[in-house]
Amino acid sequence: MITTPQYVTESSNNHLADKARDHLWMHFTRHSTYYEGHRVPIITKGEGAYIWDVQGNKYFDGLSGLFVVQAGHGRKELAQAAAKQAEELAFFPLWSYAHPSAILLAERLAQLAPGDLNRVFFTSGGGEAVESAWKLAKQYFKLTGKPAKTKVISRAVAYHGTPQGALSITGIPEAKIPFEPLVPGGIKVPNTNFYRAPEEFRGDEKAFGLWAANRIAEAIEFEGSDSVAAVFVEPVQNSGGCFPPPPGYLERVREICDEYDVLMVADETITAFGRIGDYFAMKRFGVTPDIITCAKGMTSGYSPLGAMIASDRLFEPFKHGTHTFLHGYTWGGHPVSAAVAMENLDIFEREGLNKNVQENEGNFRRTLEKLTDLPIVGDVRGAGYFYGIELVKDKKTRETFNDDECERLLRGFLSKALFDNGLYCRADDRGDPVIQLAPPLTIGQKEFDEIESTLRIVLTQALEVL
Ligand SMILES: Cc1ncc(COP(=O)(O)O)c(C=O)c1O
Repeated sequence: MITTPQYVTESSNNHLADKARDHLWMHFTRHSTYYEGHRVPIITKGEGAYIWDVQGNKYFDGLSGLFVVQAGHGRKELAQAAAKQAEELAFFPLWSYAHPSAILLAERLAQLAPGDLNRVFFTSGGGEAVESAWKLAKQYFKLTGKPAKTKVISRAVAYHGTPQGALSITGIPEAKIPFEPLVPGGIKVPNTNFYRAPEEFRGDEKAFGLWAANRIAEAIEFEGSDSVAAVFVEPVQNSGGCFPPPPGYLERVREICDEYDVLMVADETITAFGRIGDYFAMKRFGVTPDIITCAKGMTSGYSPLGAMIASDRLFEPFKHGTHTFLHGYTWGGHPVSAAVAMENLDIFEREGLNKNVQENEGNFRRTLEKLTDLPIVGDVRGAGYFYGIELVKDKKTRETFNDDECERLLRGFLSKALFDNGLYCRADDRGDPVIQLAPPLTIGQKEFDEIESTLRIVLTQALEVL
Protein backbone atom coordinates (compact mmCIF):
# COMPACT_ATOMS: atom_id res chain seq x y z
CA MET A 1 0.00 0.00 0.00
CA ILE A 2 1.25 3.49 -0.83
CA THR A 3 1.28 5.86 2.14
CA THR A 4 1.76 9.62 2.22
CA PRO A 5 5.46 10.41 2.61
CA GLN A 6 6.52 11.31 6.15
CA TYR A 7 7.81 14.74 5.13
CA VAL A 8 4.26 15.63 4.03
CA THR A 9 2.43 14.31 7.09
CA GLU A 10 4.91 16.08 9.35
CA SER A 11 4.02 19.45 7.84
CA SER A 12 0.58 20.69 8.74
CA ASN A 13 -1.46 22.17 5.90
CA ASN A 14 -0.71 25.71 6.90
CA HIS A 15 2.97 25.05 7.28
CA LEU A 16 3.16 23.74 3.73
CA ALA A 17 1.48 26.88 2.35
CA ASP A 18 3.83 29.09 4.37
CA LYS A 19 6.86 27.16 3.17
CA ALA A 20 5.66 27.41 -0.43
CA ARG A 21 5.20 31.17 -0.05
CA ASP A 22 8.62 31.60 1.54
CA HIS A 23 10.81 29.25 -0.48
CA LEU A 24 9.18 27.91 -3.63
CA TRP A 25 9.53 30.04 -6.76
CA MET A 26 6.41 29.13 -8.70
CA HIS A 27 6.39 29.41 -12.48
CA PHE A 28 4.61 32.27 -14.24
CA THR A 29 3.27 33.26 -10.82
CA ARG A 30 2.52 36.65 -9.33
CA HIS A 31 3.92 35.96 -5.88
CA SER A 32 2.54 39.10 -4.22
CA THR A 33 -0.86 37.33 -4.18
CA TYR A 34 0.48 34.98 -1.53
CA TYR A 35 1.68 37.82 0.69
CA GLU A 36 -1.73 39.52 0.45
CA GLY A 37 -3.96 36.94 2.07
CA HIS A 38 -4.31 34.19 -0.56
CA ARG A 39 -2.85 30.83 0.31
CA VAL A 40 -0.91 28.73 -2.19
CA PRO A 41 -3.19 25.92 -3.39
CA ILE A 42 -1.44 22.64 -2.67
CA ILE A 43 -2.43 19.54 -4.60
CA THR A 44 -1.58 16.24 -2.99
CA LYS A 45 -3.41 13.49 -4.83
CA GLY A 46 -4.98 12.53 -8.16
CA GLU A 47 -7.31 9.74 -9.24
CA GLY A 48 -8.82 9.51 -12.72
CA ALA A 49 -10.02 12.97 -13.75
CA TYR A 50 -9.99 14.34 -10.18
CA ILE A 51 -7.42 15.92 -7.90
CA TRP A 52 -7.47 16.67 -4.16
CA ASP A 53 -5.86 19.48 -2.23
CA VAL A 54 -4.09 19.27 1.08
CA GLN A 55 -7.33 20.09 2.95
CA GLY A 56 -9.02 17.12 1.28
CA ASN A 57 -11.16 19.14 -1.15
CA LYS A 58 -11.89 17.44 -4.48
CA TYR A 59 -11.63 19.15 -7.88
CA PHE A 60 -12.27 18.17 -11.47
CA ASP A 61 -8.99 18.43 -13.40
CA GLY A 62 -10.22 20.36 -16.44
CA LEU A 63 -6.72 21.03 -17.75
CA SER A 64 -5.09 17.60 -17.31
CA GLY A 65 -2.57 19.29 -15.03
CA LEU A 66 -1.12 21.41 -17.81
CA PHE A 67 -2.39 19.66 -20.98
CA VAL A 68 -0.48 16.58 -19.82
CA VAL A 69 -2.41 13.86 -17.93
CA GLN A 70 -4.13 12.27 -20.95
CA ALA A 71 -4.70 8.86 -19.35
CA GLY A 72 -5.85 10.33 -16.03
CA HIS A 73 -4.29 10.40 -12.58
CA GLY A 74 -3.35 7.50 -10.31
CA ARG A 75 -2.42 4.95 -13.00
CA LYS A 76 -0.61 2.10 -11.31
CA GLU A 77 0.64 0.68 -14.65
CA LEU A 78 2.56 3.88 -15.34
CA ALA A 79 4.02 4.08 -11.85
CA GLN A 80 5.06 0.44 -12.09
CA ALA A 81 6.66 0.93 -15.52
CA ALA A 82 8.73 3.76 -14.02
CA ALA A 83 9.76 1.71 -11.00
CA LYS A 84 10.70 -1.31 -13.10
CA GLN A 85 12.88 0.75 -15.43
CA ALA A 86 14.52 2.61 -12.53
CA GLU A 87 15.46 -0.70 -10.92
CA GLU A 88 16.92 -2.04 -14.14
CA LEU A 89 18.67 1.04 -15.52
CA ALA A 90 17.81 4.34 -13.89
CA PHE A 91 19.89 6.52 -16.14
CA PHE A 92 22.07 6.51 -19.15
CA PRO A 93 22.52 9.35 -21.67
CA LEU A 94 21.88 9.25 -25.39
CA TRP A 95 25.24 10.85 -26.09
CA SER A 96 26.72 8.28 -28.52
CA TYR A 97 25.11 5.46 -26.49
CA ALA A 98 21.58 4.15 -26.46
CA HIS A 99 19.30 2.15 -24.19
CA PRO A 100 16.34 -0.10 -25.06
CA SER A 101 13.44 2.08 -23.89
CA ALA A 102 14.59 5.11 -25.92
CA ILE A 103 15.29 2.96 -28.99
CA LEU A 104 11.91 1.25 -28.90
CA LEU A 105 10.07 4.50 -28.21
CA ALA A 106 11.85 6.23 -31.11
CA GLU A 107 10.81 3.40 -33.41
CA ARG A 108 7.23 3.55 -32.15
CA LEU A 109 6.96 7.33 -32.53
CA ALA A 110 8.37 7.11 -36.05
CA GLN A 111 5.65 4.58 -36.88
CA LEU A 112 2.93 6.79 -35.41
CA ALA A 113 4.15 10.06 -36.94
CA PRO A 114 2.91 11.10 -40.39
CA GLY A 115 4.93 10.71 -43.61
CA ASP A 116 8.66 10.08 -43.35
CA LEU A 117 9.15 11.69 -39.97
CA ASN A 118 11.37 8.84 -38.89
CA ARG A 119 14.10 10.41 -36.78
CA VAL A 120 13.41 11.10 -33.12
CA PHE A 121 15.56 13.49 -31.05
CA PHE A 122 14.52 13.34 -27.38
CA THR A 123 14.42 16.34 -25.07
CA SER A 124 13.01 16.80 -21.59
CA GLY A 125 10.13 19.10 -22.59
CA GLY A 126 8.36 21.12 -25.27
CA GLY A 127 10.47 24.29 -25.16
CA GLU A 128 13.63 22.25 -25.64
CA ALA A 129 12.02 20.46 -28.57
CA VAL A 130 11.18 23.82 -30.20
CA GLU A 131 14.70 25.06 -29.50
CA SER A 132 16.10 21.88 -31.08
CA ALA A 133 13.91 22.30 -34.17
CA TRP A 134 15.15 25.84 -34.82
CA LYS A 135 18.77 24.77 -34.35
CA LEU A 136 18.30 21.80 -36.68
CA ALA A 137 16.66 24.03 -39.32
CA LYS A 138 19.62 26.42 -39.21
CA GLN A 139 22.27 23.72 -39.38
CA TYR A 140 20.43 21.77 -42.06
CA PHE A 141 20.45 24.77 -44.39
CA LYS A 142 24.10 25.53 -43.60
CA LEU A 143 24.99 21.97 -44.59
CA THR A 144 22.93 22.05 -47.77
CA GLY A 145 24.25 25.25 -49.31
CA LYS A 146 21.73 27.83 -48.02
CA PRO A 147 23.58 29.23 -44.98
CA ALA A 148 21.60 32.48 -44.79
CA LYS A 149 18.34 30.65 -44.05
CA THR A 150 18.08 31.32 -40.31
CA LYS A 151 14.84 33.23 -39.57
CA VAL A 152 11.62 31.71 -38.33
CA ILE A 153 8.02 32.71 -38.84
CA SER A 154 5.37 32.07 -36.20
CA ARG A 155 1.98 33.44 -35.22
CA ALA A 156 0.70 36.24 -33.03
CA VAL A 157 -0.08 35.26 -29.41
CA ALA A 158 1.35 31.73 -29.91
CA TYR A 159 3.36 30.26 -27.02
CA HIS A 160 6.31 28.05 -27.92
CA GLY A 161 8.28 27.87 -24.66
CA THR A 162 10.76 29.78 -22.54
CA PRO A 163 14.32 29.06 -23.78
CA GLN A 164 15.58 32.19 -25.51
CA GLY A 165 15.17 30.74 -29.01
CA ALA A 166 11.73 29.34 -28.30
CA LEU A 167 10.80 32.67 -26.71
CA SER A 168 11.79 34.47 -29.91
CA ILE A 169 9.35 32.19 -31.72
CA THR A 170 6.69 32.93 -29.09
CA GLY A 171 4.27 35.69 -30.08
CA ILE A 172 3.33 37.08 -26.67
CA PRO A 173 5.05 40.46 -26.21
CA GLU A 174 4.64 40.59 -22.38
CA ALA A 175 6.41 37.22 -22.04
CA LYS A 176 9.35 38.44 -24.12
CA ILE A 177 9.98 42.07 -23.20
CA PRO A 178 11.69 41.42 -19.83
CA PHE A 179 14.24 39.15 -21.52
CA GLU A 180 15.14 41.14 -24.60
CA PRO A 181 17.31 41.14 -26.60
CA LEU A 182 16.27 37.65 -27.66
CA VAL A 183 17.54 35.56 -30.56
CA PRO A 184 17.10 37.70 -33.68
CA GLY A 185 15.02 36.59 -36.63
CA GLY A 186 11.61 35.76 -35.12
CA ILE A 187 8.97 37.11 -37.53
CA LYS A 188 5.25 37.18 -36.62
CA VAL A 189 2.17 36.70 -38.79
CA PRO A 190 -1.56 36.62 -37.92
CA ASN A 191 -3.02 33.60 -36.13
CA THR A 192 -6.26 31.83 -37.05
CA ASN A 193 -8.67 33.37 -34.53
CA PHE A 194 -11.77 33.32 -36.73
CA TYR A 195 -13.88 35.06 -34.07
CA ARG A 196 -11.54 38.06 -34.39
CA ALA A 197 -11.07 37.78 -38.18
CA PRO A 198 -11.05 41.00 -40.21
CA GLU A 199 -14.65 42.11 -40.96
CA GLU A 200 -14.46 41.10 -44.63
CA PHE A 201 -13.96 37.41 -43.70
CA ARG A 202 -16.71 37.07 -41.09
CA GLY A 203 -18.80 34.10 -42.16
CA ASP A 204 -16.22 32.71 -44.59
CA GLU A 205 -13.75 30.60 -42.65
CA LYS A 206 -12.09 29.20 -45.76
CA ALA A 207 -11.36 32.64 -47.20
CA PHE A 208 -10.05 33.74 -43.80
CA GLY A 209 -7.76 30.69 -43.65
CA LEU A 210 -6.40 31.42 -47.10
CA TRP A 211 -5.82 35.06 -46.16
CA ALA A 212 -4.03 34.08 -42.92
CA ALA A 213 -1.84 31.48 -44.67
CA ASN A 214 -0.94 33.93 -47.40
CA ARG A 215 0.42 36.33 -44.76
CA ILE A 216 3.17 33.72 -44.31
CA ALA A 217 4.06 33.89 -48.00
CA GLU A 218 4.03 37.67 -47.76
CA ALA A 219 6.40 37.61 -44.76
CA ILE A 220 8.77 35.24 -46.57
CA GLU A 221 8.78 37.54 -49.61
CA PHE A 222 9.32 40.57 -47.41
CA GLU A 223 12.22 39.02 -45.48
CA GLY A 224 13.69 37.31 -48.55
CA SER A 225 13.14 33.58 -48.97
CA ASP A 226 16.90 32.93 -48.77
CA SER A 227 16.83 34.17 -45.16
CA VAL A 228 13.86 32.15 -43.82
CA ALA A 229 14.46 28.66 -42.39
CA ALA A 230 11.15 27.57 -40.89
CA VAL A 231 7.52 28.28 -40.10
CA PHE A 232 6.27 27.17 -36.66
CA VAL A 233 2.55 26.49 -36.23
CA GLU A 234 0.53 24.63 -33.64
CA PRO A 235 -2.16 22.59 -35.42
CA VAL A 236 -4.62 24.11 -32.93
CA GLN A 237 -3.12 27.22 -31.31
CA ASN A 238 -3.42 27.15 -27.54
CA SER A 239 -2.53 30.65 -26.41
CA GLY A 240 -5.35 33.06 -27.18
CA GLY A 241 -7.84 30.26 -26.59
CA CYS A 242 -7.82 27.32 -29.00
CA PHE A 243 -7.72 28.47 -32.61
CA PRO A 244 -8.37 25.48 -34.90
CA PRO A 245 -6.98 25.70 -38.43
CA PRO A 246 -9.60 26.97 -40.88
CA PRO A 247 -10.32 24.50 -43.72
CA GLY A 248 -7.45 24.55 -46.19
CA TYR A 249 -5.15 26.60 -43.92
CA LEU A 250 -2.57 23.93 -43.08
CA GLU A 251 -2.59 22.67 -46.67
CA ARG A 252 -1.81 26.18 -47.92
CA VAL A 253 0.97 26.63 -45.33
CA ARG A 254 2.48 23.36 -46.57
CA GLU A 255 2.28 24.60 -50.16
CA ILE A 256 3.96 27.91 -49.25
CA CYS A 257 6.75 26.12 -47.36
CA ASP A 258 7.40 23.88 -50.36
CA GLU A 259 7.38 26.81 -52.76
CA TYR A 260 10.02 28.77 -50.79
CA ASP A 261 12.00 25.79 -49.43
CA VAL A 262 11.11 26.69 -45.86
CA LEU A 263 10.61 23.94 -43.24
CA MET A 264 7.15 23.46 -41.78
CA VAL A 265 7.38 22.74 -38.05
CA ALA A 266 4.22 21.59 -36.28
CA ASP A 267 4.54 22.38 -32.58
CA GLU A 268 2.40 19.60 -31.14
CA THR A 269 3.51 20.07 -27.54
CA ILE A 270 -0.17 20.19 -26.60
CA THR A 271 -1.99 18.70 -29.58
CA ALA A 272 -0.19 15.35 -29.85
CA PHE A 273 -1.10 12.17 -27.99
CA GLY A 274 -4.84 12.19 -28.32
CA ARG A 275 -5.69 15.77 -27.47
CA ILE A 276 -7.22 16.18 -30.96
CA GLY A 277 -8.17 12.50 -31.31
CA ASP A 278 -5.04 11.08 -32.94
CA TYR A 279 -1.45 10.46 -31.88
CA PHE A 280 -0.54 13.57 -33.85
CA ALA A 281 -3.04 16.27 -34.78
CA MET A 282 -1.32 16.79 -38.13
CA LYS A 283 -2.28 13.24 -39.03
CA ARG A 284 -5.91 14.04 -38.29
CA PHE A 285 -5.67 17.21 -40.40
CA GLY A 286 -3.98 15.25 -43.20
CA VAL A 287 -0.90 17.46 -43.63
CA THR A 288 2.69 16.25 -43.19
CA PRO A 289 5.14 18.76 -41.73
CA ASP A 290 8.95 18.48 -41.87
CA ILE A 291 9.31 18.44 -38.10
CA ILE A 292 6.96 17.72 -35.20
CA THR A 293 7.79 18.92 -31.69
CA CYS A 294 5.94 17.19 -28.85
CA ALA A 295 6.11 16.52 -25.11
CA LYS A 296 3.43 16.70 -22.38
CA GLY A 297 0.95 13.88 -23.14
CA MET A 298 3.65 11.47 -24.33
CA THR A 299 4.00 10.13 -20.78
CA SER A 300 0.65 11.40 -19.45
CA GLY A 301 2.89 13.35 -17.08
CA TYR A 302 4.19 10.41 -15.05
CA SER A 303 7.72 11.41 -16.04
CA PRO A 304 9.05 14.35 -18.12
CA LEU A 305 9.83 13.82 -21.80
CA GLY A 306 9.80 15.76 -25.08
CA ALA A 307 10.85 15.05 -28.65
CA MET A 308 11.65 16.60 -31.98
CA ILE A 309 10.68 14.24 -34.78
CA ALA A 310 12.37 15.08 -38.08
CA SER A 311 11.89 13.87 -41.64
CA ASP A 312 14.40 11.62 -43.39
CA ARG A 313 15.50 14.55 -45.56
CA LEU A 314 16.62 16.55 -42.52
CA PHE A 315 18.68 13.70 -41.13
CA GLU A 316 20.39 12.99 -44.47
CA PRO A 317 23.37 15.40 -44.03
CA PHE A 318 24.13 13.78 -40.65
CA LYS A 319 24.01 10.21 -41.95
CA HIS A 320 27.48 10.09 -43.46
CA GLY A 321 30.81 11.85 -43.00
CA THR A 322 31.75 14.00 -40.03
CA HIS A 323 28.72 16.28 -39.61
CA THR A 324 27.27 16.21 -36.10
CA PHE A 325 24.24 17.88 -34.58
CA LEU A 326 26.17 19.34 -31.63
CA HIS A 327 23.15 19.56 -29.40
CA GLY A 328 21.70 17.52 -26.55
CA TYR A 329 20.25 17.34 -23.05
CA THR A 330 21.30 15.18 -20.10
CA TRP A 331 17.68 14.21 -19.45
CA GLY A 332 16.67 13.79 -23.11
CA GLY A 333 15.15 10.34 -23.60
CA HIS A 334 15.59 9.45 -19.92
CA PRO A 335 15.16 5.66 -19.59
CA VAL A 336 12.41 5.98 -16.96
CA SER A 337 10.48 8.53 -19.03
CA ALA A 338 10.84 6.48 -22.20
CA ALA A 339 9.61 3.34 -20.40
CA VAL A 340 6.63 5.30 -19.06
CA ALA A 341 5.87 6.63 -22.55
CA MET A 342 5.84 3.06 -23.93
CA GLU A 343 3.37 2.00 -21.24
CA ASN A 344 1.31 5.14 -21.82
CA LEU A 345 1.04 4.32 -25.53
CA ASP A 346 -0.02 0.79 -24.56
CA ILE A 347 -2.83 2.34 -22.50
CA PHE A 348 -3.84 4.47 -25.51
CA GLU A 349 -4.12 1.28 -27.57
CA ARG A 350 -5.78 -0.90 -24.93
CA GLU A 351 -8.37 1.67 -23.93
CA GLY A 352 -8.86 3.31 -27.32
CA LEU A 353 -8.26 6.84 -26.00
CA ASN A 354 -8.06 8.41 -29.48
CA LYS A 355 -11.33 6.71 -30.40
CA ASN A 356 -12.93 7.96 -27.18
CA VAL A 357 -12.03 11.52 -28.14
CA GLN A 358 -13.26 11.08 -31.70
CA GLU A 359 -16.56 9.61 -30.57
CA ASN A 360 -17.23 12.16 -27.83
CA GLU A 361 -15.75 15.41 -29.13
CA GLY A 362 -19.06 16.43 -30.72
CA ASN A 363 -20.87 15.97 -27.41
CA PHE A 364 -18.16 17.93 -25.59
CA ARG A 365 -18.57 20.81 -28.04
CA ARG A 366 -22.38 20.74 -27.86
CA THR A 367 -22.31 20.70 -24.06
CA LEU A 368 -19.97 23.68 -23.87
CA GLU A 369 -21.97 25.52 -26.54
CA LYS A 370 -24.94 25.56 -24.18
CA LEU A 371 -23.03 28.29 -22.34
CA THR A 372 -23.45 30.65 -25.28
CA ASP A 373 -26.81 31.66 -23.79
CA LEU A 374 -24.83 33.60 -21.15
CA PRO A 375 -24.17 37.23 -22.13
CA ILE A 376 -20.48 36.97 -21.15
CA VAL A 377 -19.74 34.02 -23.46
CA GLY A 378 -18.70 35.30 -26.88
CA ASP A 379 -17.27 32.21 -28.52
CA VAL A 380 -16.74 28.51 -27.87
CA ARG A 381 -14.01 27.05 -30.07
CA GLY A 382 -11.56 24.21 -30.28
CA ALA A 383 -11.26 20.60 -31.37
CA GLY A 384 -10.97 17.17 -29.78
CA TYR A 385 -10.77 17.53 -26.00
CA PHE A 386 -9.30 21.02 -26.26
CA TYR A 387 -11.58 24.04 -25.93
CA GLY A 388 -11.43 27.77 -25.33
CA ILE A 389 -14.35 29.91 -24.20
CA GLU A 390 -13.85 33.57 -25.04
CA LEU A 391 -15.44 36.05 -22.64
CA VAL A 392 -16.74 39.37 -23.92
CA LYS A 393 -18.15 42.56 -22.48
CA ASP A 394 -20.64 43.01 -25.28
CA LYS A 395 -21.71 39.97 -27.19
CA LYS A 396 -23.25 41.88 -30.07
CA THR A 397 -20.23 44.05 -30.85
CA ARG A 398 -17.70 41.44 -29.58
CA GLU A 399 -16.16 44.19 -27.46
CA THR A 400 -13.55 42.77 -25.13
CA PHE A 401 -12.56 43.84 -21.60
CA ASN A 402 -9.96 46.53 -20.90
CA ASP A 403 -6.89 45.79 -18.77
CA ASP A 404 -8.53 46.81 -15.48
CA GLU A 405 -11.61 44.73 -16.17
CA CYS A 406 -9.46 41.72 -17.15
CA GLU A 407 -7.55 42.09 -13.90
CA ARG A 408 -10.77 42.17 -11.88
CA LEU A 409 -12.48 39.45 -13.88
CA LEU A 410 -9.71 36.90 -14.35
CA ARG A 411 -7.26 37.36 -11.51
CA GLY A 412 -9.66 38.99 -9.06
CA PHE A 413 -12.53 36.57 -9.52
CA LEU A 414 -12.63 33.78 -12.10
CA SER A 415 -9.50 31.77 -11.36
CA LYS A 416 -10.30 31.50 -7.67
CA ALA A 417 -14.08 31.12 -8.10
CA LEU A 418 -13.70 28.25 -10.58
CA PHE A 419 -11.31 26.49 -8.22
CA ASP A 420 -13.52 27.15 -5.18
CA ASN A 421 -16.41 25.63 -7.11
CA GLY A 422 -14.41 22.49 -7.76
CA LEU A 423 -13.11 23.07 -11.30
CA TYR A 424 -9.41 23.36 -12.00
CA CYS A 425 -8.92 24.96 -15.43
CA ARG A 426 -7.28 28.08 -16.81
CA ALA A 427 -8.58 31.63 -17.06
CA ASP A 428 -6.12 33.32 -19.37
CA ASP A 429 -5.68 36.76 -20.93
CA ARG A 430 -2.52 36.36 -22.97
CA GLY A 431 -4.81 37.25 -25.87
CA ASP A 432 -8.45 38.17 -25.32
CA PRO A 433 -9.78 36.66 -22.06
CA VAL A 434 -10.58 32.97 -22.31
CA ILE A 435 -11.28 29.94 -20.17
CA GLN A 436 -9.35 26.94 -21.38
CA LEU A 437 -10.31 23.32 -21.03
CA ALA A 438 -8.26 20.22 -21.80
CA PRO A 439 -9.58 17.39 -19.62
CA PRO A 440 -8.19 13.84 -19.45
CA LEU A 441 -9.06 11.81 -22.55
CA THR A 442 -10.84 9.15 -20.51
CA ILE A 443 -13.95 11.20 -19.71
CA GLY A 444 -17.44 11.33 -21.27
CA GLN A 445 -20.84 13.02 -21.02
CA LYS A 446 -21.16 12.86 -17.23
CA GLU A 447 -18.00 14.90 -16.80
CA PHE A 448 -18.87 17.27 -19.69
CA ASP A 449 -22.10 18.08 -17.81
CA GLU A 450 -20.17 18.63 -14.60
CA ILE A 451 -17.81 21.08 -16.34
CA GLU A 452 -20.73 22.92 -17.95
CA SER A 453 -22.71 23.29 -14.76
CA THR A 454 -19.72 24.64 -12.78
CA LEU A 455 -18.88 27.07 -15.56
CA ARG A 456 -22.52 28.19 -15.70
CA ILE A 457 -22.60 28.97 -11.97
CA VAL A 458 -19.30 30.87 -11.99
CA LEU A 459 -19.82 32.74 -15.27
CA THR A 460 -23.26 33.86 -14.08
CA GLN A 461 -21.66 35.24 -10.90
CA ALA A 462 -18.90 36.87 -12.99
CA LEU A 463 -21.45 39.20 -14.54
CA GLU A 464 -22.07 40.68 -11.11
CA VAL A 465 -18.37 41.35 -10.45
CA LEU A 466 -18.04 43.66 -13.41
C1 LIG B 1 2.83 24.82 -28.05
C2 LIG B 1 3.84 24.78 -26.94
N1 LIG B 1 5.14 24.74 -27.24
C3 LIG B 1 6.07 24.68 -26.28
C4 LIG B 1 5.72 24.64 -24.95
C5 LIG B 1 6.78 24.58 -23.89
O1 LIG B 1 6.81 23.33 -23.30
P1 LIG B 1 7.62 23.08 -21.93
O2 LIG B 1 6.92 23.85 -20.87
O3 LIG B 1 7.55 21.59 -21.76
O4 LIG B 1 9.01 23.56 -22.19
C6 LIG B 1 4.38 24.68 -24.59
C7 LIG B 1 3.97 24.63 -23.17
O5 LIG B 1 2.83 24.74 -22.81
C8 LIG B 1 3.40 24.76 -25.60
O6 LIG B 1 2.10 24.80 -25.32
